[in-house]
Amino acid sequence: MFSTMSSAKSVNAIGNQLSPLHEQWKQRIEKVLSERLPSVETIPQRLHQAMRYSTLNGGKRIRAMLVYATGYLFGADEKVLDVPASAVEAIQSFSLIHDDLPAIDNDDLRRGKLSCHRAFDDATAILAGDALLMFAFEQLSNGTQDAEQIIAMIRILSEDSGTAGMIGGGSLELEISGKSIAVEALEDLHWRKCGTLIRASVLLGAYGATIPNQDILSKLETYAYGVGVGYQISNDLLDSMGNFALLGKKPKSDWAMDRSTFYNQLDPELASLRMVELFNQSIAALDGLDRVEPLQSIARYIMQRTLSICEASKG
Ligand code: IPE
Ligand code: MG
Repeated sequence: MFSTMSSAKSVNAIGNQLSPLHEQWKQRIEKVLSERLPSVETIPQRLHQAMRYSTLNGGKRIRAMLVYATGYLFGADEKVLDVPASAVEAIQSFSLIHDDLPAIDNDDLRRGKLSCHRAFDDATAILAGDALLMFAFEQLSNGTQDAEQIIAMIRILSEDSGTAGMIGGGSLELEISGKSIAVEALEDLHWRKCGTLIRASVLLGAYGATIPNQDILSKLETYAYGVGVGYQISNDLLDSMGNFALLGKKPKSDWAMDRSTFYNQLDPELASLRMVELFNQSIAALDGLDRVEPLQSIARYIMQRTLSICEASKG
């Protein structure tokens, strides 16, 4: 019989803390976003209030950390990475505002606070999401990188957020709600819905720093696949096994919407094992390279945190 308990123990030995460097990046992106988002005094004030309310709300900032950690691999100055880091966080914030709307997941809460449409209203939430999407590309177009790097970042973020990526994944999820699907199809859905923005974060960190070569790009792609799908499996497991204090919203919201998740389509133990396998593949993909520890520890951190919570929830 598979055991997530033994997996959890072996991962525990590696450690699950993010380093002071990650904490520094988290603080950095908070400051960058706060400075770059339009102020609440600027007209239209209600729109700007909603954008700031939803974006500066204590997120984990995994995507920004991926940008900084990938840029670190190339020895980039953090300052030049502020542009791609704020762009991916703005896209993430936009996607969550729209995801919480009554027409999609109908979630009243996000990170322990009212979701955007509940704190403001549906129309403002729709417009705040739209505006954050535009803010992301405005940021990229103002980057100090060479034009070739900027165009690459715009291309990657638009493709990975668009119909072949995150938005397409959200649409597919609605189509298959209530249906039972093969686990491979579910993994593909998770890749589109969550993984593609993780890939964009990693690749924007790379292109924000330099024009990367094919060899490193393919290693980063492998890394991003494992973290991208693994992170959504983690989200599924936590939605099912976590509690209100942890999630900052009602648990089992996926169930309420009849969504296909790794938890309900696969034995949770198997889902958890697949998650561990994916994160371990990500970590292994970078073995032997210099300056990859910050990227590897992000993968370890998400995996270990998820396993610890799942273990605790079994009582
Ligand atoms: C969030 O998906 C939306 C996208 C990634 C596009 P979920 O519905 O699975 O995530 P939570 O549980 O609301 O954060
Ligand atoms: Mg949701």
